Amino acid sequence: MTTLLTGIGLLASQDDEIGERGEIAGAALVLDGDSIAWVGRAADAPDADERIDLGGRAVLPGFVDSHAHLVFAGDRADEFAARMAGVPYRAGGIRATVGATRAASDDELRQNLARLEGELLRAGVTTFETKSGYGLDLATEQRSLRIGAEFTPETTYLGAHVVPQGSDRDAYVGLVCGDMLAACAPHARWVDAFCDDGAFDADESRHVLRSGMAAGLEPRLHANQLSAGPGVALAVELGAASADHCTHLSPGDVDALAQSATVATLLPLVEFSTRSPYPPARRLLDAGARVALATDCNPGSGYSTSMPLAIALAVREMHLTPAEAVRAATAGGSAALRRTDIGALRVGARANLVVLDAPNYVHLAYRPGVPLIAQVWQAGTRVV
Ligand code: NIG
Ligand code: FE
Repeated sequence: MTTLLTGIGLLASQDDEIGERGEIAGAALVLDGDSIAWVGRAADAPDADERIDLGGRAVLPGFVDSHAHLVFAGDRADEFAARMAGVPYRAGGIRATVGATRAASDDELRQNLARLEGELLRAGVTTFETKSGYGLDLATEQRSLRIGAEFTPETTYLGAHVVPQGSDRDAYVGLVCGDMLAACAPHARWVDAFCDDGAFDADESRHVLRSGMAAGLEPRLHANQLSAGPGVALAVELGAASADHCTHLSPGDVDALAQSATVATLLPLVEFSTRSPYPPARRLLDAGARVALATDCNPGSGYSTSMPLAIALAVREMHLTPAEAVRAATAGGSAALRRTDIGALRVGARANLVVLDAPNYVHLAYRPGVPLIAQVWQAGTRVV
């Protein structure tokens, strides 16, 4: 079954082979089953079994949310309200969610994740990553990943989120690198650690990531969110797919990212929600680093699934051009997940795409907070 989507005002395919930013005005796409069969100008489009006229709307690849924490119970609205009254964000708030998550049943965790998956889809996100990290004991970390893997292949073992209440530090790191890892590795693709003030230092994080890699997991790292610490350097040293947050960077960190394949994943919804300075995105891009944008949706530092708002913040607050922000939320996210089948609309790629109620993608930043996601297609099927 083939479907011709025609009448596309502006297609921003993110396929550089097509020309600048992969853009085509007056475009069409042909979907064949779950993948893209043809991309080009509407005037040249081949016939298909079904034809849908998009009436001049813009089309983008589905957004790739390469960083989220969606397996948890409860919320921390009180912590947010206190923060807005002046209490600073601290890593220790994670422990409140740990209590609620341990007490939740599998079905409660599953239903919460399904609710957030629905929000992400309606925000145009067709691929997302999710982590453990609110269990911090063997059984809850394992079931968090088992449940996460029911929803996405991009699951990350984050036993090293913080040291749980009442645990000895060294004993806990030993557990994360030993029995807990063995229980979690079958359900995870990635290993991560929160390398920051109030969480884990560079030696502990290196031990966690190396242990995970030895168990067959691929590394990514929470780095430099709360201070210009050692996280980014460690992520580059270990060849991590991504260094996430990058809020506080030294000149050496920027150079290290620019000279490596490690993607700098920026999470501006967190700076918005913690009232923190935004990451130096311009310095990263100008130095030649690869940048991704993701939501980091979690109940503590930023409880938003809105990739369009992240794009608007990246443009308004971090000085990305609208084209750079869209690139970071699509192809950037796919690079941060080491995926080549998503993030760009090219022949053979997965037919994951977003139709905007706007003639071009600039409107995502130009009209912040306005629900512009008109349609979402996932693996060739319209889902929104
Ligand atoms: O990415 N930084 C570490 N983890 C999350 C926040 C977790 C929380 O506060 O619950 C983050 O911001
Ligand atoms: Fe995070």
